[in-house]
Amino acid sequence: MKSFLLLYLVAIHTLSINGLLDFKKKTQVTTTDHRVLANVKIYSNLAEVIQPLGLLPIEFSSEDWNDIRSDSITLVGTDVNVTQQSITEKKKSLNNAQVYVRSPSSSNTETKFIKATMIDEKRNLVKLIDKDVSKEPIFFTAQSDHILYDADPPQTKYYVNFTYDTNSPVELSYLRSNLNWKTRYQLNLFENSKPATLSAMADIRNDGQSRVDIESAELLGGDINLQMYQRSQYMPMSAAKGYAAYEADNAGAPGPPPKPSVGEGEEISGLYVFSINQPFSIDARTNYLLPMFRPRVTVERYASISKYFYGAGNVNGKAERSYRLSADRFLSRGNCVIRESDRLVGETSLPDIAAKNKHEFSIGQDADIVYKENSTLVSSTTSNVTSSPYGPKQSRTHSTYEVVLTLKNYKKNRSVKVEYQQNVYGQSVKLTKPNALFTQEGSAIKATFTLASDEEKSASYKFEVVN
Ligand SMILES: *[C@@H]1O[C@H](CO)[C@@H](O)[C@H](O)[C@H]1NC(C)=O
Ligand SMILES: *[C@@H]1O[C@H](CO)[C@@H](O)[C@H](O)[C@H]1NC(C)=O
Ligand SMILES: *[C@@H]1O[C@H](CO)[C@@H](O)[C@H](O)[C@H]1NC(C)=O
Ligand SMILES: *[C@@H]1O[C@H](CO)[C@@H](O)[C@H](O)[C@H]1NC(C)=O
Ligand SMILES: *[C@@H]1O[C@H](CO)[C@@H](O)[C@H](O)[C@H]1NC(C)=O
Repeated sequence: MKSFLLLYLVAIHTLSINGLLDFKKKTQVTTTDHRVLANVKIYSNLAEVIQPLGLLPIEFSSEDWNDIRSDSITLVGTDVNVTQQSITEKKKSLNNAQVYVRSPSSSNTETKFIKATMIDEKRNLVKLIDKDVSKEPIFFTAQSDHILYDADPPQTKYYVNFTYDTNSPVELSYLRSNLNWKTRYQLNLFENSKPATLSAMADIRNDGQSRVDIESAELLGGDINLQMYQRSQYMPMSAAKGYAAYEADNAGAPGPPPKPSVGEGEEISGLYVFSINQPFSIDARTNYLLPMFRPRVTVERYASISKYFYGAGNVNGKAERSYRLSADRFLSRGNCVIRESDRLVGETSLPDIAAKNKHEFSIGQDADIVYKENSTLVSSTTSNVTSSPYGPKQSRTHSTYEVVLTLKNYKKNRSVKVEYQQNVYGQSVKLTKPNALFTQEGSAIKATFTLASDEEKSASYKFEVVN
């Protein structure tokens, strides 16, 4: 009998039983709604949620729980001491519940469902009477998509409970990974002397399965080392401030809500905080973009040649299209698309940049600006040195090189500024003076040239390197 049944089950083809399965409706009953987020601080990789503390214990669905860093769940307030905290995973058992299963005597053309009793939900073992098989109850392991439930099957839930002492309002705080933000920039450059413009958008992403409604949000920029999965201590951000912000935002003005906008950045202990002045919602798997500030920027264009010195010989190459950007205010890290005279010319990722600080970046080669370098070894001497009377002897080579640099601007119409930098490896590097054009900075030799259209320029320098 048993082997017959087994053979029979193996013979069953996986049938699509669409339609019938549709009544497995998805209703979620949660006592605490974690879709409505009172006060959210959004970072580049996660968000801290601060909400009024509801009834204890706090219940989370497994869907929410997957996005929450469980060791970050805590209570915050100006004067609150958590004396005990527990996290419990619970699921109502389905064992002994009535279910429907696809009958083992179904054929390819006819699918029958019959009433059964769940014996072991871990194995999907059910008990049923199928007259086509036997008059006695039979046991068999059903495929999970061959089991139908007459009610929403119970889901695993997570319960967090606290005991605490307080003299102040208490709120719940936790980190969730499915909410993050970054800045998106667009840098527009123009010919002639029209000033460059930089526009910034806050790109807020809800990576979760459900829509979230946010009552009040702050975007935080700067070098923040919060991690979603890490064992290290997590310190909640200024909780008192969070509460004040929540109170203020709940004072609420009537009338149609104006469009949310991102405020000016405010510096708080090395981080920048941008407040969003209105409640807003983000659908599941959606990016929500809000305009941010428009900093005043200055952008210098130049062709950059930055290379390493590899000894005597000839090398040539092309300069890089480079920019030196500075803004009148802090720029938080983000991707930046660059347009020149309304044409897309490249893309870069900007780091966090302090106000008035200069950031240099290159976006690709400029085929019109080429360089040639001819380096010759002028002299070389080797000496034995000892660091201590008993120490091992080390040989030192002092080499003097002469470098002839030739630059050419093939642009028919435009002059260019070229910034040259030769990086030399060595225990010490010394540029031979005097040299009108080249300067030394650390172990790098630098010079700046302006080349008119079609102009070729040559210049040379000598340096000594000790290896
Ligand atoms: C949660 O903690 C409170 C004490 O703070 C206690 O009274 C209550 O029974 C606890 N609930 C659960 C489900 O453990
Ligand atoms: C919390 O703990 C601190 C330090 O032990 C104590 O001074 C404070 O009074 C406590 N607060 C409450 C509300 O119990
Ligand atoms: C490089 O310079 C050396 C010495 O000045 C010269 O003999 C040689 O022809 C030069 N090579 C090239 C490719 O210009
Ligand atoms: C340095 O020492 C090596 C052996 O240790 C020796 O062969 C060489 O001649 C020495 N050179 C000088 C310049 O003294
Ligand atoms: C480039 O050359 C053209 C024709 O010679 C001229 O009309 C134009 O103004 C020039 N552009 C620049 C940027 O100098």
